[in-house]
Amino acid sequence: MKGLIPQHFIDELLARVDIVEVVDRRVPLKKTGQNYTARCPFHDEKTPSFSVNPDKQFYYCFGCGAGGNAIGFLMEYERLEFPQAIDTLATVAGLEVPRERVENPEKASKRKDLHSLMAQAAEHYQQQLKHHQDSRRAKDYLIKRGLTGEIAKAFQVGFAPPGWDNLLQELGSDEQSRQLLIDAGMLISGDNKLYDRFRDRIMFPILDNRGQVVAFGGRVLGDDKPKYLNSPETEIFHKGRELYGLYQARKAVRNLERLIIVEGYMDVVALAQHGIPYAVATLGTATSEDHLRKVFRYCPEVVFCFDGDEAGRKAARRAMETVLPVMEDGRQARFLFMPDGEDPDTQIRAIGTSRFEQQILNAKPLEDYFFEAVSEGANADSLEGKARISKRAAPLIQLLPAGVYRELMMDALSRRTGLSASALHNILQNNPPADPPPPEPRATNAAPPPKNVAPAPLPSSKRDTLLYMISLLLLHPSAAPALQDESLPELDSPYLTTLKSILALLEKRPESSTAMMLGHWQGQAEGEVLTLALSLEKPNYDGEKAASALQECLQHLRQRQHQRELSSTVDKLRNANYADLSEGDKQKLKELLSRKASPD
Ligand code: UTP
Ligand code: MN
Repeated sequence: MKGLIPQHFIDELLARVDIVEVVDRRVPLKKTGQNYTARCPFHDEKTPSFSVNPDKQFYYCFGCGAGGNAIGFLMEYERLEFPQAIDTLATVAGLEVPRERVENPEKASKRKDLHSLMAQAAEHYQQQLKHHQDSRRAKDYLIKRGLTGEIAKAFQVGFAPPGWDNLLQELGSDEQSRQLLIDAGMLISGDNKLYDRFRDRIMFPILDNRGQVVAFGGRVLGDDKPKYLNSPETEIFHKGRELYGLYQARKAVRNLERLIIVEGYMDVVALAQHGIPYAVATLGTATSEDHLRKVFRYCPEVVFCFDGDEAGRKAARRAMETVLPVMEDGRQARFLFMPDGEDPDTQIRAIGTSRFEQQILNAKPLEDYFFEAVSEGANADSLEGKARISKRAAPLIQLLPAGVYRELMMDALSRRTGLSASALHNILQNNPPADPPPPEPRATNAAPPPKNVAPAPLPSSKRDTLLYMISLLLLHPSAAPALQDESLPELDSPYLTTLKSILALLEKRPESSTAMMLGHWQGQAEGEVLTLALSLEKPNYDGEKAASALQECLQHLRQRQHQRELSSTVDKLRNANYADLSEGDKQKLKELLSRKASPD
């Protein structure tokens, strides 16, 4: 069996081969200045806009936005899968591709032990729900929530009784099994004592793809906090990957047409009980791209279901940005909003199955929701509003995988804004950050900046600064320490995750080069953002200048965030008397005003 190609080999390979040679053999290149150029092999063009950078070992086309390292070039040009592209390059470089074994036997046997332990724990909790002396309270709670015994059984719902060591007594008879319980996240050790993590809670087992219990969510029976407690990450449980209810949904419906993503365990169970057995929930986290790739493995459509409040709208916006990179042709995403104050659990009990199902079928398609979201606060009839909408929408559309759907979305954007496709391309590719950070002091004898022939500068957007920071890091990885100990402002932007991923990678592997980074996220959302970042104007910086530019960008983002906070607080306070303000608001106002005086 072929195993994984180790990362160090991929890095070595990229260091050995020269992208100029790789490309030149297939597409003859001409040297122009520092770079090499040619007519782009990936789209039709008369004048060359395809360039290869020998220094940083990447290629980029200003016409169509294709870009990447030598491996990516081969994959695109010769339509190869990743391992084949590696093989081809390795042959040329005279290297042999090593393969890692997928898993070592020791690890595999440990995982098996963990799985069997979790199965025993789930069984134990189910027994306690039936027979423990305290189980009446638990059963009453479930009845009060409207759950039938049948559905509780189908979801293997159980009860962790009150007490510090029920599970410990039951399953931790020797040193080895106690250690296993700790590793499984079922026991906590503190003050030299071991005790049960889950006490006096309704237990919801979380199953993996194969139906094995890998974790639990436990709910209090009353109003105590935290309402839900979840298993920690373990060798067999990765929160960002699992979806509660997915296994049950796949079992219940042979050919899944769609899956609904809801927020809570109870929502999944209640929907299933009412004849909608195809809902899943993330485990208290936002929906990730991994989640969505998983969902789309089993069906072509996902319906996001959100609460109707502000938090729900925010989550929807985030889900929209997360789903874009996985929207391959033939897939569909829709958005459904519950009335304010309701969740799917209460809603289906209120309106019944058939009306709820009708709402699912009528849920808003991604394309409609997308244009609503990017048009928020912009007047789509004014020129300025159209510019704003394009500016927000174009980079998001760019996150879509190449295909018919992306083309259609681009067309729709053209239609809505009246801007031609080529004008939109301009916005994407020729516009340097619309709201650039303070520039490097220019030498006094330097020429004035060239007049931008593109449309007048568009309204500022935090996205561009982030993308600019990404491009600085991509070209100058050595500048990363400038940001590594800083906290980044929590902006609502699809680029923020990419920026964080880059920083994390460079923390782990500071020696990564531009080409390595381009390869690291090949085929993933981050990869697309990196390609987009290549399109930005590249100032002729060295590592040190890049570091100080990054610092300036950071200050700039912080100041803008601070201003936003300030103006929203001021808005809120405008109609209130200072004397009537709550202590919290007063404090906030003071803090904001003092920060304004000395921006930091
Ligand atoms: P909700 O509070 O909306 O859950 O949180 P719910 O399922 O509707 O809860 P009840 O039982 O009807 O009141 C949504 C999800 O967020 C996670 C859980 O996964 C929960 O299902 N969560 C919530 C936590 O992990 N911890 C918490 O303290 C609260
Ligand atoms: Mn609920």
